[in-house]
Amino acid sequence: MEKQRLDKIIASSGKWSRKEARELARRGQVTVNGLFVRSAEEKYDPEKDEITVAGETLGYRRYTWIMLNKPAGCLSATEDGRGKTVLDLLPQELQRQNLFPVGRLDKDTEGLLLLTNEGGLAHALLSPKRHVDKVYYARTAGRLSEEDCRAFAQGLSLDGGLQCLPAKLEILSAGEESEARITLREGKYHQVKRMLAARGNPVVYLERIQMGQLPLDPSLARGAFRFLTEEEIKELRALV
Ligand code: URA
Repeated sequence: MEKQRLDKIIASSGKWSRKEARELARRGQVTVNGLFVRSAEEKYDPEKDEITVAGETLGYRRYTWIMLNKPAGCLSATEDGRGKTVLDLLPQELQRQNLFPVGRLDKDTEGLLLLTNEGGLAHALLSPKRHVDKVYYARTAGRLSEEDCRAFAQGLSLDGGLQCLPAKLEILSAGEESEARITLREGKYHQVKRMLAARGNPVVYLERIQMGQLPLDPSLARGAFRFLTEEEIKELRALV
């Protein structure tokens, strides 16, 4: 891989800014291949050279994968002239890595959103042919019934001619307002909202809680993010 400046390599971990990386090197907190370096301006190969920062080995990855707990009110887009996007929730160093959201959540939908700069795998995960499960928690205005579960299982036909694949509706509570867990194998525009509205149960709250086998990390506060582990990335690769 092409050599890059050490401060850039360190900042791409998302844990330190380039300025902090230079400062850490000055303070003797950075080693390359076992030797302390005082300047972070030299260039190294992030795949071949072993770099440690404050005693921690920097596991360099060609691609970045992030799990974000999306809050309501921000757009799943990389830029928007008018409003806040999910990228605004990330530190500057990560904003410069050409990350984009893997699929979209509506502005008012919360929960699990993956961000990456690995286009090939992201597109494969989103491909309608792959049928990667997406699991949502929804609250609806209206009482959900077993009949709704059967209709979901058969595959709903929506206004505008959209024929949905069979989906799973599990009722968690039924009353004037109901709660449900919904598993879809596709991701059409506003799909969960349209499916529930078609059954007379408009969504009042929606959260994505899982993608494939990957659940939303319960320790992530709304608006917070973390890097995926190697194991989690491997599991995503296994899906495609
Ligand atoms: N279905 C919806 O209706 N909205 C989302 O954000 C995701 C799935």
